[in-house]
Amino acid sequence: MDFKGQVVIVTGGARGIGKAICEAFAKRGANIAVVDLMDEEAVKTADELKALGVESISIKCDVSKSEDVKEMFNTVVEKLGGVDILVNNAGITRDTLVLRMKEEEWDAVIDVNLKSAFLCSKEALKLMAKKRFGRIINISSIVAFTGNPGQVNYSASKAALLGLTKTIAKEYASRGITCNAVAPGFITTAMTEALPDNIKEEMLKNIPLRRFGSPEDVANAVVFLASTEAGYITGQVIHVNGGMYM
Ligand code: NAI
Repeated sequence: MDFKGQVVIVTGGARGIGKAICEAFAKRGANIAVVDLMDEEAVKTADELKALGVESISIKCDVSKSEDVKEMFNTVVEKLGGVDILVNNAGITRDTLVLRMKEEEWDAVIDVNLKSAFLCSKEALKLMAKKRFGRIINISSIVAFTGNPGQVNYSASKAALLGLTKTIAKEYASRGITCNAVAPGFITTAMTEALPDNIKEEMLKNIPLRRFGSPEDVANAVVFLASTEAGYITGQVIHVNGGMYM
C-alpha cells in the first residue's frame, strides 16, 4: 500500500492511536497534518514523522470548534496542498454513571467525539468532492455495540459516529469518496492505562486472542481502509478487538 504524495489529516494525532496512524501513513509515503489540542506533543510527533522522509505539519486545533476546524483546513491546504484522507480520531472520556453525569460531561464528550467528525468531514468533503476522490475513516469503539456502564456519553457518541459514517458513505459514493469506521476494543494507550490492574485482568479473560491491542493494530486497519485496495468498501465498520465482540 503506497500513499506517496497523498495528504492525510489525523485529528488527535499527537499521541496514542492517532500517533500510530500518523506513523503508519508516513512509513508508506503520505504527508501528514498532525492535528491536536496538545501543541508541544503534536510538534514532537510531526518532527518524528519528518525523519521518515515525508512532509509533516502540526496544527493546534480544538476539533469541536467550527472556527478552529475551518482555520485548520485552510492551513493544511496552504501548506500541504489539499486533503486526500481524513481520520477522525480525536476522542475523550468523562466517565460516570448516568445519574451522576453532569450535563457538561455529556456535552463535552459528544462535542469532541461526534460533532468534531461532522465539522471535519464537512470541510474535507468540500475539497474531496472537487477532486472526486477521498477517504474518511472514523474511530468508533467496541462500546458503540456493547454499551458500557459509566460511559453513557462515550458509547452514545461512538454509536452515533456509525450513523454519520453510513450517511456520508451514501451521500458521497458517487464522488469517489468512501467513508468507513474502525471500532477498537481494548487498546493499550494513555486512555486505558489509567484503569486498575484487577479490571484489566478481568477484561483479558474476555479476549479470545488473550492480549490487549496495540495502537499499531488499529493503524493497520485504518491504512487498509484508506488504500486503493479498499476502494470497493464503504459504510462499513472493521472491528479490531481480538475477538472480544463478534
Ligand atoms: P489518547 O487520549 O491517548 O489520544 C487522544 C488524542 O486526542 C490526544 O492527543 C488529545 O490531545 C486529542 N484531543 C482530545 N480532545 C481534542 C480536541 N478537542 N481537539 C483536538 N484534539 C483533541 O486516546 P487514544 O486511546 O489514543 O484514543 C484515540 C481514539 O480511539 C479515541 O477516539 C478513542 O475514543 C478511540 N478508542 C480508544 C480505545 C482504547 O482502548 N484506547 C478503544 C476504542 C476507541
